[in-house]
Amino acid sequence: MKNGKTSNRFDKDAITWDDLPRRINLAKAVVNNIIPHLKGNEKVLEFGCGTGLVGINIAPYVQDLKGIDTSAKMVEKFNEKAQKLNLNAKAYQKDIFEINESFDVVISSMTLHHIKNLNALNEKLKSITNRVFLADLVKEDGTFHTRGNDDVEHFGFDIDELREYFKGWNLDYKIIHLIKKHSDFPVFLLELKK
Ligand SMILES: C[S@@+](CC[C@H](N)C(=O)[O-])C[C@H]1O[C@@H](n2cnc3c(N)ncnc32)[C@H](O)[C@@H]1O
Repeated sequence: MKNGKTSNRFDKDAITWDDLPRRINLAKAVVNNIIPHLKGNEKVLEFGCGTGLVGINIAPYVQDLKGIDTSAKMVEKFNEKAQKLNLNAKAYQKDIFEINESFDVVISSMTLHHIKNLNALNEKLKSITNRVFLADLVKEDGTFHTRGNDDVEHFGFDIDELREYFKGWNLDYKIIHLIKKHSDFPVFLLELKK
């Protein structure tokens, strides 16, 4: 069941998710590029928070960080880490489309390409925040996910597609990282501001 609460391929991945240095390096790049934009008093939502590679490292720089993820095991891992560090961060098993609460900032890394209906996502984001940071893959050839593309809805994004999906915002786009696999996969950070 895709993005479902009962069966989820990310549940299987959660245990070893943090073992890959390339994931840690990417998360560091995302964190380092978001932190300069934060004042410290923000209430932040991270959707597709996974084990917290991004959110757990953003939490010390904001007032409160709520993580959400459709994978129960990812949420468990996130909360184990947040508790150990006694952080102002907590994750919940939820889909972004279930969220109705407002946030100063919404962030997300490597989750956009798993969400089919990005027009609906845009409407959801517009209804809950004035500011968003989204990191994901630049358009790729379908070879990034070496274990298959079952839960992949988009092979990355080019800037024109992003402009089309995220209408109604001011966009700021930059390349912040290269994931090194069998070839280099650039990662963008897109800032959306009302
Ligand atoms: C590629 S992982 C990225 C995890 C984390 N952001 C990181 O960079 O390590 C994508 C995550 O998004 C979650 N996800 C996918 N669709 C979602 C949705 N509609 N709402 C919330 N989480 C979702 C998955 O369960 C998975 O944990």
